[in-house]
Amino acid sequence: MIVTGGAGFIGTNFVRHALKNTDYRVVVLDKLTYAGSLLNLKQVENHERYAFEQADIADLDAIEDIYQRYQPDRVVNFAAETHVDRSIDGPEPFVRTNLVGTWVMLEAARRYLRDKNEDEASAFRLLHVSTDEVYGDLDETGLFHETTPYAPSSPYSASKAGADHMVHAYHRTYGLNTIITNCSNNYGPFQFPEKLIPVVILNALEAKDLRIYGDGSNIRDWLYVEDHCSGILKALENGRPGRNYNIGGRNERTNLQIIDRICKLLEKHRPAAENPAMQARGLKQYADLKTFVEDRPGHDLRYAIDADRIREELGWEPKHNFDSGIEHTVKWYLDNLDWCKDIQEEKNYNRERLGTGK
Ligand code: NAD
Ligand code: TYD
Repeated sequence: MIVTGGAGFIGTNFVRHALKNTDYRVVVLDKLTYAGSLLNLKQVENHERYAFEQADIADLDAIEDIYQRYQPDRVVNFAAETHVDRSIDGPEPFVRTNLVGTWVMLEAARRYLRDKNEDEASAFRLLHVSTDEVYGDLDETGLFHETTPYAPSSPYSASKAGADHMVHAYHRTYGLNTIITNCSNNYGPFQFPEKLIPVVILNALEAKDLRIYGDGSNIRDWLYVEDHCSGILKALENGRPGRNYNIGGRNERTNLQIIDRICKLLEKHRPAAENPAMQARGLKQYADLKTFVEDRPGHDLRYAIDADRIREELGWEPKHNFDSGIEHTVKWYLDNLDWCKDIQEEKNYNRERLGTGK
């Protein structure tokens, strides 16, 4: 199995999940951009069924060579530029990796399967990991279904939507056995600290402002990363080629609710009253750090997923509820501050505000 983007947040969680729950040899193919690091794969680097290849999914020659050398019967495409804010500041790598890169993964698969017999070609699966953001946003009511028309808002979601269309085209035109999963916002261990949950945890610990875009009423539907990984594996093994599967756990929260919950959990596990950084700012509780800032341009209002298809067709169920998942996540960051420090140093990243488009 080839796992592109396996050195990123969801990819590294999926690699562990696949090594634990299957017999596949897992080859991580990753460019190691700012979001991907071998620090995320340390725990599996000596596993006998694990291998690593540094490559760019937009490089057709390199990808063809990797298909030839590893002869995969499964490909899971996580590799992507994933941060909406960065896509607002600079869309180009999003077009290149998400759109061109996904095309390359499909085209390399098509060429590789030309030399295979019918049985091998029909056993092959390429699962493309996508997002619910391709559907655009919702107002107060309603859910995203697999039949909801695509209406992406940001350069990120537009590049993911384009990639999904290309995946469908390769299924329909060439009969390539593809599957797409569209998942809601993930949280959990190893998420790069540019995304809402880890950036709030780390800024709070250092008594830095907790930036709330707009009025904090935007809603996301949160899923613990391990539940996303189990859904992907189910869809990969039992999903129907040509189909999309939505994945989500019906955990809708406003951004303000998320930030308040993180503050409460930090008070429980690392009280502000005992935190020298908070004392130095003369602040008593983490919630005092909440700061409303200029909104993100084009900010999607609400995401909410109907995951009935993957539940009913494939028997997938999330195992984690939001309360335990978020507490586990906060504790993971507290227990892994060395990882947080190392990854930010390696990537020269200091949690600055991104995505104003200026
Ligand atoms: P991430 O940003 O943490 O990791 C992305 C990984 O892809 C990194 O390891 C990076 O080095 C690699 N990569 C980037 N460009 C590459 C290229 N050109 N060639 C090879 N490797 C490259 O992302 P994530 O949050 O783990 O998301 C993984 C996938 O899941 C993405 O496709 C994303 O769109 C999708 N997704 C994410 C979420 C979420 O909440 N994080 C939700 C739904 C879907
Ligand atoms: P993010 O984690 O970037 O994911 P996405 O944009 O893909 O949903 O952001 C989640 C929500 O949190 C989104 O509505 C933007 C908001 N947000 C903040 O209010 N402050 C922040 O510092 C960040 C990073 C995000």
